[in-house]
Amino acid sequence: MPSVVIKGMGAYAPKNVVTNEDLSQIVDTSDEWIRTRTGIGERHLADESETVSFMASEAAKEALENSGLSIEEIDLLIVATMTPDMLFPSTACLVQSKLGLKKVASFDIEAACSGFLYALEVGSSMLKAGAYKNALIIGSEKISGIVDWQDRTTCVLFGDGAGAAVLSKSEEPDIGVLGALLRADGDAAHLLHMPGGGSNIPASSESLDDRQHFLKMNGKEIFKVAVRYMEQATLDLLESKGLTIEEIDCVIPHQANMRIIDSLGERLGVPKEKFVNNLVRYGNTSAASIPIALTEAVKLGKLKKGDHLLLIAFGAGLTWGASLIKWT
Ligand SMILES: CC(C)(COP(=O)(O)OP(=O)(O)OC[C@H]1O[C@@H](n2cnc3c(N)ncnc32)[C@H](O)[C@@H]1OP(=O)(O)O)[C@@H](O)C(=O)NCCC(=O)NCCS
Repeated sequence: MPSVVIKGMGAYAPKNVVTNEDLSQIVDTSDEWIRTRTGIGERHLADESETVSFMASEAAKEALENSGLSIEEIDLLIVATMTPDMLFPSTACLVQSKLGLKKVASFDIEAACSGFLYALEVGSSMLKAGAYKNALIIGSEKISGIVDWQDRTTCVLFGDGAGAAVLSKSEEPDIGVLGALLRADGDAAHLLHMPGGGSNIPASSESLDDRQHFLKMNGKEIFKVAVRYMEQATLDLLESKGLTIEEIDCVIPHQANMRIIDSLGERLGVPKEKFVNNLVRYGNTSAASIPIALTEAVKLGKLKKGDHLLLIAFGAGLTWGASLIKWT
């Protein structure tokens, strides 16, 4: 079985940085409340020109440059997003056009904050299966476009941005993306969702009055299950690969809440130094959070050849999972 390696990473963060203090001018909140409950200090919010497809394309360009591959060598494009530019066509098709990446297979994956891990698994499996050689896998989100700016319980948590990876097939065995364990529980879909805007509740004056076109979340319930599900996925994945948690050199968890991340680290017995976190500067950027953090980790030289890297995610669906990578 051939391997699939990450050849290059890239990220894009919108220019506009909004602090907790700035948000306290819009809703009844404070820097102290947001920092202590979540660990978030500021977030990047996209302007009108910074669409999800634009941010995805910018992140992809940087990933391509870092990979040393040319755009002509890419034959597969997957975008993970829960905030597409529009319901259809897919954001991947819009990104394809922006990049000048003509006529290659392009599609979106919607698995909310776990989207990048789902896209990584689908993309690497398609490469391993043989028909494709190099893939662009992107997580891009503009959550500022779907949060309710009158709801202090949700609007302070999220941010916008994009991260991208170039994946390539390699004949060297047992390196790169070693595998993933992905899970979902649709019975808990109501815990984090946006009811309006799809075919079930199309836009109407009633749906607008009821604020159905905004993200709704039961934060307390999500908090309860997030740590447990991520811990179990990690342990099951490691067992299936014959590895122990001590053999993991670096962990990049989905950046949603510092208390969730700390609790996950404690339960898994992974020291804080092995975690890569940038939540304080980005907030929760959903499918973009892991590839943005991974891009930063690479830039900071936190990963060396042969390191075992664990990516762990959790999000609406509910969806969750873990991916294991032997860094090249
Ligand atoms: C959202 C979250 C930070 C709330 O923290 P919490 O400790 O559970 O806070 P509570 O919901 O109990 O609210 C406590 C109080 O703070 C208030 N509050 C909520 N948001 C606030 C804000 N932004 N600023 C100030 N006060 C706020 C509440 O109204 C409540 O007040 P009350 O006691 O008078 O009713 C936390 O539940 C969480 O992070 N959950 C996970 C959410 C998540 O990560 N989702 C994405 C998954 S991908």
